[in-house]
Amino acid sequence: MTRYALITGASSGLGLALAEALARRGRNLILVARQRETLEPVAIELTQRFGVEVLFRACDLSQPLRLSGFVLELEEGERRIDLLVNCAGQRTYGPFLAHEWADEQDLLEVNILALSRLCHAIGNLMAIQGGGQILNIAGLAGVAPGPWMAAYAASKAYVLSFSEALREELRRTGIKVSVLCPGPVRSSKRPIPRLDASSPSPEEIALYTVRALDKNRALILPGRRNRWLAFAPRLLPRWLTRKLAGRIHRRYCPAGLE
Ligand SMILES: NC(=O)c1ccc[n+]([C@@H]2O[C@H](COP(=O)([O-])OP(=O)(O)OC[C@H]3O[C@@H](n4cnc5c(N)ncnc54)[C@H](OP(=O)(O)O)[C@@H]3O)[C@@H](O)[C@H]2O)c1
Repeated sequence: MTRYALITGASSGLGLALAEALARRGRNLILVARQRETLEPVAIELTQRFGVEVLFRACDLSQPLRLSGFVLELEEGERRIDLLVNCAGQRTYGPFLAHEWADEQDLLEVNILALSRLCHAIGNLMAIQGGGQILNIAGLAGVAPGPWMAAYAASKAYVLSFSEALREELRRTGIKVSVLCPGPVRSSKRPIPRLDASSPSPEEIALYTVRALDKNRALILPGRRNRWLAFAPRLLPRWLTRKLAGRIHRRYCPAGLE
């Protein structure tokens, strides 16, 4: 039976770079994002360049009913998924009270609920198949409370904790779970102008990540500076950590929101 890697958020940024890195290694792919018109050309291009089978599915993961329909398709379908990459993510940046609630809710639906639901559904399919691999994308923001990106940072803290816990639980099922914790990445879709120049490209992070997946790393932390930043909250008192995190996030707030 043909095997596929299913990647959410695969139409841009890190998800696209991971799709390309996996296609380069001969992986067949199922790409997921909201917009069909961006997924289709990506699927065609990856098929032509790497000779792999690339399917795509437009689904808004913030909509529980659409997500349920998609999950049902996966459960009832014939396709075998042996790698799940939960990369789709939404972010709000700025004061929590100033955001529309709908945006915060979408963020929580995608970053937490959809990710967990896909781990549950595809994890169960993998358990029946006797194994597989799951990669969840958290972020450095998840290692400490994140003033000025409060819900985003908290959602990434969930992804980090959830993924590490799942790894332990699934150890004997043959399902390997890893979590990627990148610092800022140059992303064409959600640029942070004052930070972008010094950040690695999605392609650099993707290459590092697929190599770390080969080694079944639990926590994938690209870059020495990020490894230090991820460790720092363990050395500092909590009050100082949140003050410093707030100062850093505020500095990079989109102009007018800080
Ligand atoms: N960029 C960074 O600096 C950075 C740092 C640390 C962690 N991360 C994490 O890395 C992941 C990718 O970030 P990125 O900046 O590379 O992303 P991006 O360029 O903003 O792309 C996001 C992807 O997710 C899809 N997506 C967004 N909302 C969706 C929804 N409701 N349903 C289905 N698909 C959805 C988008 O496609 P559609 O718009 O077509 O849906 C797109 O393919 C995220 O989880 C992010 O939190 C990013």
